Amino acid sequence: MMKTLNVGMLGTGFMGRTHSNAFNQVGHFFELPYKTVLKCCYSRNPENAKKFQTIWGYESIETDWRKIVERDDIDIIDVVTPNHLHKDMVVAAAEAGKAVICEKPLAMNSQEAAEMVAAVEKAGVPSVVSFCYRRNPSVALFKQLVDENRIGRPFHYRATYNQDYTISEKVPVGGASLWRLDGKVAGSGVTGDLLAHSIDTAEWLNGPIEKVCAHTEIFIKERKNVETGEVTPITIDDACMFLAVFKNGSIGTFESTRYARGRKNFNTMEMNGSNGACYFNLEEPEYLQFFRYGDPQTGQKVEEDHLTGWQKILVTNKEHPYMDHYWVPGTVIGYEHYFINQLADFLIQMAGGTPVYPVPTIADAARTQKVCDAVIQSAKEERWVKID
Ligand SMILES: NC(=O)c1ccc[n+]([C@@H]2O[C@H](COP(=O)([O-])OP(=O)(O)OC[C@H]3O[C@@H](n4cnc5c(N)ncnc54)[C@H](O)[C@@H]3O)[C@@H](O)[C@H]2O)c1
Repeated sequence: MMKTLNVGMLGTGFMGRTHSNAFNQVGHFFELPYKTVLKCCYSRNPENAKKFQTIWGYESIETDWRKIVERDDIDIIDVVTPNHLHKDMVVAAAEAGKAVICEKPLAMNSQEAAEMVAAVEKAGVPSVVSFCYRRNPSVALFKQLVDENRIGRPFHYRATYNQDYTISEKVPVGGASLWRLDGKVAGSGVTGDLLAHSIDTAEWLNGPIEKVCAHTEIFIKERKNVETGEVTPITIDDACMFLAVFKNGSIGTFESTRYARGRKNFNTMEMNGSNGACYFNLEEPEYLQFFRYGDPQTGQKVEEDHLTGWQKILVTNKEHPYMDHYWVPGTVIGYEHYFINQLADFLIQMAGGTPVYPVPTIADAARTQKVCDAVIQSAKEERWVKID
């Protein structure tokens, strides 16, 4: 009989919803080695917990997260709380022998990340950190094209992650989702929140970053705290731009802000190499753009004619990553499916099977955290910072 894995969900906000939905849906689309059961959800507020339980179908609730972690009938702990809580929750879960799912950024800083890696490795438990954009089929196809040498020798990597929701001075700090503006809760600003994603995909597609040189900006220096009512100084980076040198000799630029009027989730990545170029934009998530120049085997220029140019590929065919699990060609999937794909890969990998792509573990995410820390340090010290 198929083994059952019971899930304890720590958090009931935006990510609590995407992760609960993934657990409910994953078995409908993937043939899995396990059956998962939404056993218990945690919120400090019992009303929230009860509402969440009803909507997503949890069997029970807790208002003390440590009680879930201690329960013998829980196999997976899923950490979907703000960043300052990740370390204690992950370490406790690992010590209790649970498999761990953790949202990004992994931690407040690299010191915390190292403690988390040590706990997970000591306990020998499986882990995944939710760098969910790797599980968008177009981004996974981007990876496939890199692996097939269709980019060739990379020269440039270019990433943006821009939004516009904190431009008004009236946006407060603290509370649901706006805890992101509070340095004590978030750790950093756009660097940990948005660039962590960009750095994760950059290193996945283009290998390790060796050094960075960054500039950060705080445009609105104080905001009213929604919980205390006090005017609070803002310490997190509202915007961050950095240059990067990759180990493979290519160079990169990264830009992130929450002040790019008109941009909602403008997460883009582009690579330009000797054989071709590739571009992805999360505001058109079902497309990948590709420019073919050299043959991947020989590097020789392919024949050019009047149709030479960028191809805009609708990534919905059965031969595209993950798409054989969904509908017919031309029918797109959405944001929630990245979390379903991620969970499928994690469960398949846990059972020793072959995922579409291996999932980033807590150790992998600790590496991303190091790059984030180097970016913040570089901006503070106004110099290039090398990454070990
Ligand atoms: N992978 C992604 O693309 C992605 C997207 C959004 C958020 N995230 C990450 O997911 C995590 C959660 O973000 P979110 O958007 O769901 O936030 P949210 O504000 O929507 O939800 C946070 C949850 O944590 C609870 N919470 C808040 N403060 C708490 C405290 N002090 N003690 C206990 N519980 C507390 C809230 O009640 C809520 O249930 C963050 O680490 C964030 O960076 C990742």
